Amino acid sequence: MSRSAHPAGPRHADVLPEGHYAAPPADLNVLDPKVWARSVTRGEDGVVTVAGLPVTRLAEEFGTPAYILDEADFRARARAWRTAFGADADVFYAGKAFLSRAVVRWLAEEGLNLDVCSGGELATALSAGMPADRIAFHGNNKSAAEIERAVRAGIGRIVLDSFQEIVRVAHIAQSLGKRQRVQIRVTVGVEAHTHEFIATAHEDQKFGIPLAGGQAAEAVRRALRLDGIELIGIHSHIGSQIFDMSGFEVAAHRVVGLLKDIRDEHGVELPEIDLGGGLGIAYTSGDDPREPHEIAKALTEIVTRECRAARLRTPRISVEPGRAIVGPTAFTLYEVGTVKPLDGLRTYVSVDGGMSDNIRTALYDAEYSVALVSRASDAEPMLVRVVGKHCESGDIVVKDAFLPADLAPGDLIAVPATGAYCRSMASNYNHALRPPVVAVEDGEARVIVRRETEEDLLRLDVG
Ligand code: LLP
Repeated sequence: MSRSAHPAGPRHADVLPEGHYAAPPADLNVLDPKVWARSVTRGEDGVVTVAGLPVTRLAEEFGTPAYILDEADFRARARAWRTAFGADADVFYAGKAFLSRAVVRWLAEEGLNLDVCSGGELATALSAGMPADRIAFHGNNKSAAEIERAVRAGIGRIVLDSFQEIVRVAHIAQSLGKRQRVQIRVTVGVEAHTHEFIATAHEDQKFGIPLAGGQAAEAVRRALRLDGIELIGIHSHIGSQIFDMSGFEVAAHRVVGLLKDIRDEHGVELPEIDLGGGLGIAYTSGDDPREPHEIAKALTEIVTRECRAARLRTPRISVEPGRAIVGPTAFTLYEVGTVKPLDGLRTYVSVDGGMSDNIRTALYDAEYSVALVSRASDAEPMLVRVVGKHCESGDIVVKDAFLPADLAPGDLIAVPATGAYCRSMASNYNHALRPPVVAVEDGEARVIVRRETEEDLLRLDVG
């Protein structure tokens, strides 16, 4: 272990952040299992390993930056959701969090269904062999071509998001001689405690049809009249990165209320309800996520109780976790390029990626953790901001964190919990080449999404 080769770096009281990072952790070499994929551990030589593979070897073989995904952890989390909800419910993995053909195969093998929200995600799912009847199609503005493709494929359900879409899907299905199973997405009017951009159940936003003012009831009336569609249920998704279950409880209560109104008005008991995704994960040691079995228990109990009170048969429940399955299973491996202490302020650590591989910090003020992974160090903690190599001062990967003060160019650092909404929201800003996703399992590593190349970039540039 090397002692501090650099000055300890600024830890000016004025810049110490509030909350979780107000003080450095007792030992920077310790990896909190809450935020790291399950097989991640620091070896005796100080090098961090995942699925038995040293990160130094992964960096050599696959380059940096790279997303390293623990396959066994992904499968275990998928299975935990499946088991928690049991045979009377369905778990649809939300592909927007991260989707690739390998992931589709793992999901199919683990007995999960899949939620897609674009033609591209649908194509990925079908090309990897997910049976069409296990796929749900979301989105607030699906194109006619996307709808036609989904209906032709025999997709399990389309989640309708507007009055126009009710008619559009019914027409397309009818013209293909089919009757498409659909759900209607409603906004239940709860304020989820999360960032404004990822809260989706308050009424003033683009998704869903409001329960308020009888709009959802009117949508149901229209859907029940059309031959091309079969209304099988009601859908609600209240937002993302949520820890507090009370929003889900209110949503379940209101959705069951609608089911009751539908029964009273039409004499029809819809057989399904979908309560969406949105369960939070730990990005830092300060986050305390719920386990799938607790969530399953809470949701099942509330739906059962509400249905009993309304004298309704309990519908089949489905949920759509994305982040909670894939988020914790991956980390991003970066190489440090420069370490720049600014007197009296903080130290800027520049890595070889940035907002092109993780936009979440810039977009949502998201908090992340970071660790030195290519060696251990007993140097003093220094307050750092980990930044990327893009031409923007907002290109921040980790806003506030502590790393050892002897951090130097060439060191590898890793940011955990980057499995969800990082590769899937990656961009080519500044013509960055999007990093690969490397799946590791039991001492083996394989690329499941390869690194982009300059040829890939230039192939699109046909001027
Ligand atoms: N179901 C529906 C209808 C959704 O819109 C979403 C996420 C999910 C399920 C999955 O939610 P999850 O379990 O992954 O939270 N880019 C943002 C998150 C946007 C979520 C969009 N919809 C972020 O990076 O935090």
